[in-house]
Amino acid sequence: MKELKKKIEKYKTQFNREITLIQDKKGLQELRNLFLSRKKGYVSLLFEDFKTLKPEERPEAGKIINELKEYVQTKLQALQEEFSTAKKVEKTYDLTLPGKDIYLGSPHPIVHFQQEIEQIFLTMGFTIEEGPEIETDYYNFEALNFPQHHPARDDWDTLYIKDDLLLRTHTSPVQIRVMEKKKPPIRIIIPGKVFRKETPDPTHLPMFFQVEGLVIDVGITFAHLKGTLEYFLKALFNENIKIRFRPSFFPFTEPSAEVDIECTVCDGKNEDCRVCGGSGWIEILGAGMVDPQVLKNVNIDPERYSGFAFGMGIDRTAMFAFQISDMRNFYENDLRFIRQVLRK
Ligand code: PHE
Repeated sequence: MKELKKKIEKYKTQFNREITLIQDKKGLQELRNLFLSRKKGYVSLLFEDFKTLKPEERPEAGKIINELKEYVQTKLQALQEEFSTAKKVEKTYDLTLPGKDIYLGSPHPIVHFQQEIEQIFLTMGFTIEEGPEIETDYYNFEALNFPQHHPARDDWDTLYIKDDLLLRTHTSPVQIRVMEKKKPPIRIIIPGKVFRKETPDPTHLPMFFQVEGLVIDVGITFAHLKGTLEYFLKALFNENIKIRFRPSFFPFTEPSAEVDIECTVCDGKNEDCRVCGGSGWIEILGAGMVDPQVLKNVNIDPERYSGFAFGMGIDRTAMFAFQISDMRNFYENDLRFIRQVLRK
């Protein structure tokens, strides 16, 4: 009996020491086997000893062996629960992980830029019009005062579908479509895709966006054109941007001008600037007073009404606004590029 008590004491100390060393479920199972396995577990062995005891010693012996057994069981059970809950928490949350970046979709940078442009004109009282991307020769050229075989057509490298059907090379045909339907006063912008037979390079794409402007009313002069474009470009770039009007030619405007802004990359200070070629200026739009012949073509009396029109490349202008040296970047759909541009 004395020996039994000693053994129990020894097992308990051993158990208490070993349970503190357990790291995982595997260790737990090993300790459980060591003490509780049916054949060779320490507790089972104690019951073997029990059989050799005198009958009067048995009740007490049974009690203390069972006490050890219960002690071991309760401790192992508690540890097992600890392991399971710890595991569960680990599965659900790893509080050390950085948060997931949820990316909300947004309009493409070009569309975004187009919306900025639209917003400026909307505040000036313009409305937005649209027209078809597949056009007839009449709207794209003829009605805009480009007669058949006129050399000015060569400036628009046209993608023809049939003799009379083409992908519009500019948004100007929508001027005609609108003036056929609406009578002055007209104050509209026309954003949209246009197409030209170009091989893509840093400053040319076969498909790009333009925004056209058209104002027709009584008494509209070149001063209105200048004031409108100046206001617009200052709102789009910045208050201090320098703007220059150069005489030019378009069959559908007379007089015509090309409008330059001071180079946004070198501010006109770098003779080797790759963007402006050292000139300090970059051309961003064509404009002019609507040619009287165009007004006649849509039955608007040029004696009574006058107006101005302009057309600007959206991608090209975006390139300068975002200071990007290759326009093709906009269409490669590399999210790293797109997100970077959008953040500005
Ligand atoms: N349509 C011309 C182009 O594509 C731009 C322009 C529009 C010029 C309106 C004058 C007036 O180059």
